[in-house]
Amino acid sequence: MNYQRHHLVQTWIAQVGNMLRTALQGELEIEEKSGRADLVTQMDKAVEAYLIDQIHHYFPNDQILGEEGHGHNLTSTQGVLWIIDPIDGTLNFVKQANNFGTMIGIFEDGQAQAGYIYDVMKDDLYYGINGEGVFLNDQPLVPTLDTFLADSLLNINQYHLVGSDPQIQALVNGALGVRGYGSAALEIISILRGEASIYYASRLQPWDFAAGLAIFKELGLKVTDRQGQALDLLEASTVVFASPQVHQEAIQLLNA
Ligand code: IPD
Ligand code: CA
Ligand code: CA
Ligand code: CA
Repeated sequence: MNYQRHHLVQTWIAQVGNMLRTALQGELEIEEKSGRADLVTQMDKAVEAYLIDQIHHYFPNDQILGEEGHGHNLTSTQGVLWIIDPIDGTLNFVKQANNFGTMIGIFEDGQAQAGYIYDVMKDDLYYGINGEGVFLNDQPLVPTLDTFLADSLLNINQYHLVGSDPQIQALVNGALGVRGYGSAALEIISILRGEASIYYASRLQPWDFAAGLAIFKELGLKVTDRQGQALDLLEASTVVFASPQVHQEAIQLLNA
C-alpha cells in the first residue's frame, strides 16, 4: 500500500469536509447545468480545484478525471488515474444540507488501487485499499452476509420508478423494498453498511462509480453494467452494484 498517498488523501478529505460544512453556513452560488435538477455550486468547483491542485503538487505525472471539467478528453487509463466527484448529490447539498458525499477512486493501468467515499455531514470516511481491506473511519468493515433479492432492499433512482421497462419492473417487484437517497455515494454506502444489497442506476458517470468500484472489489462485492460486463473507467454506463447472489439474480432479471 502507498502509505504516503493514503495519508495525503485522508488529510485532503478532512479539509474538504471543513470546506463544505463551512460553506453551508453561508450563501451558495447555484447554477443549472442540463436542467433544474442538475445543479453545480461554487463548492463543487472549489473542491474539485482543491483536490486537483493537491494531486498535481504531490503526483505531477498522474492523470485526473473530475466531474466539473477536468480530464474529460482522456482516452487512456495507462499510468495512475484519479477519478473525482467533488460533491456527489449536489441537489441534496443544496436542498437538504445533508446526504451528499465526496468520492475519489485511484487506478493504475486500469486496475483499482483505492477508493474513498466520504459522507460529509456524518464525517464518515469509507475506504478500500487494494489487498488491505475496507475500512470505516479506520476500523475494518466486515462484508455483510450475502442474501437473496427477495430479502433485500433495492436502491434505485426516480427515472426507473416512473418508467415502463418490464425488466426493471421485475427487479423492483423481486426486491423486498425500494429506497433512493439521491446520491450514488450514499446508495453505495448503504450496501457497505449491509442496509441494502443492490443499487441499480442508469447513466452513471465514471466519477459516480469509480470509488465504489474500488471498494466493492476489495470486499468481494460485484459492480458491472446491466449485462454483467466490466465497466469502462472512461465511459458512462448503467451500473449494478450488489452482493454476489443478488447481483446474479438481478442480471438474470435485467436480461430476461
Ligand atoms: C448524481 C447523484 C444521483 C444520481 C445521478 C448523479 P451529482 O451525482 O449521484 O444520485 O442519480 O445520476 O449524477 O451530479 O450530484 O454528483
Ligand atoms: Ca453533477
Ligand atoms: Ca455524482
Ligand atoms: Ca458531483
